[in-house]
Amino acid sequence: MSWKTIIEPFKIKTVEPLGFTTLPEREAVLREACYNIFAIPADKVLVDLLTDSGTSAMSAEQWACVMRGDESYAGARSFFTFEAAVRRLTGYRHIMPVHQGRAAERILFSVVGGPGKTILSNSHFDTTRANAEASGCVALDLPAPGALDFDTPADFKGDIDLKALEDAIRRIGKQNIPMIVMTLTNNSLGGQPASMANLRETSRIARHYGIPVIIDCARFAENAFFIKRREPGFASRKVSDIAQEIFSYGSGAMMSSKKDAFANIGGFLALNDPDWAKAAREILILGEGFPTYGGLAGRDLEAIARGLTEVLDEEYLTYRIRSIEYLAEGLRKAGVPIVEPPGGHAVYVNARKFLPHIKPEGYPGQSLVCELYRTAGIRAVEIGSLMFGKTENGKFVPAPMELVRLAIPRRVYTQSHIDFVIEVFADIAKRRDRLPPMRLIEGSQRLTHFTAKMMPEPV
Ligand code: F0G
Repeated sequence: MSWKTIIEPFKIKTVEPLGFTTLPEREAVLREACYNIFAIPADKVLVDLLTDSGTSAMSAEQWACVMRGDESYAGARSFFTFEAAVRRLTGYRHIMPVHQGRAAERILFSVVGGPGKTILSNSHFDTTRANAEASGCVALDLPAPGALDFDTPADFKGDIDLKALEDAIRRIGKQNIPMIVMTLTNNSLGGQPASMANLRETSRIARHYGIPVIIDCARFAENAFFIKRREPGFASRKVSDIAQEIFSYGSGAMMSSKKDAFANIGGFLALNDPDWAKAAREILILGEGFPTYGGLAGRDLEAIARGLTEVLDEEYLTYRIRSIEYLAEGLRKAGVPIVEPPGGHAVYVNARKFLPHIKPEGYPGQSLVCELYRTAGIRAVEIGSLMFGKTENGKFVPAPMELVRLAIPRRVYTQSHIDFVIEVFADIAKRRDRLPPMRLIEGSQRLTHFTAKMMPEPV
């Protein structure tokens, strides 16, 4: 029997109060924050869908592991527990903890990036792109055809475009391409999975040209579960086996353990190449810490090791993916256009379509983000021209999409929180034509969305 109600596969042992505010308070908070939701104090937020990163509820077992943390500077027992867990999953040889995903990016790109190089990817996440570009190299996205057609669902919109990949390698030259990064799931374009067939073929092409494939595996378990659900031949395979097969098509991985390891901080860089690993360790020591702790406490290493196993639990993954679909169903019913199908960790609202009266230079995504907060204290994030737009020769170049991501923290909210979010959207949908465009008053060169200052304009 498959029941309609979502059963969260856990019971709640510890609770945290939510931040209730009044409308005038929220309006003041928005003004104070210059309409940048990153500047809003979290205790003024009711439902925080800003990110699924570092916001998971840890399990009782993970907290027990925290107590077992060995805080020795070098050779801590917790490191070996962590190393064994990462190796069991990925099969890679050299495993380095880092304080979070972007540290792995910075280290790896400092070793093999640099001017004249191009990194190819199904899509770089924003920090991945920024770290690649900061090293001097070009970050080129080659998403699957159809990935930007948000209205048409497809099973594996996170695939890399294999034809574009081969063309790019021939055009740019394999000697100028230090790696292909497969981001699983593809966060920038809707949290969509890549298929095993696509990973296998990417690996074949990469091997042919002698280019390593590195997996950005922040959400590897969600990707593996989608493969089980959607790809012929995988229905009866264990998700843990599917995950191992995914890693077999790469020769290294960067992970933000703040996602599919249920940890509040942490990550790793795992590499097969001994020369890359040696160079990476030197940079690790310089900026993160000794290679057996890499900027983390022993207790964090323990929590991550445990989380990497828990996340492969199929009851958990069934609930996880179902609860995202449930939000998507509610939004569709409320007439809110979303990226189809919903992703593994988030539903992405198509703000360009929802607010057609706001041009990209008026940041429709940011306008919706501010209205969600103003109306009900819901915090979401813009993935559009505020995050990816540019100014070139004094001219505004919009991002290819104007989305608002509703990321769902793992094991944190229940179905009634999600029902509330749907109700708020239904209310905003009725008066969407009155949402104002936004103006950027102050930005920065890189990752401007974190610090930008904005103002609503007259409608
Ligand atoms: N790669 C992907 C696919 C990510 O989604 C993130 C972070 C990172 C790398 C960087 O990891 O934050 O630990 O340094 N994504 C967060 C988000 C910030 O909200 O999607 P980090």
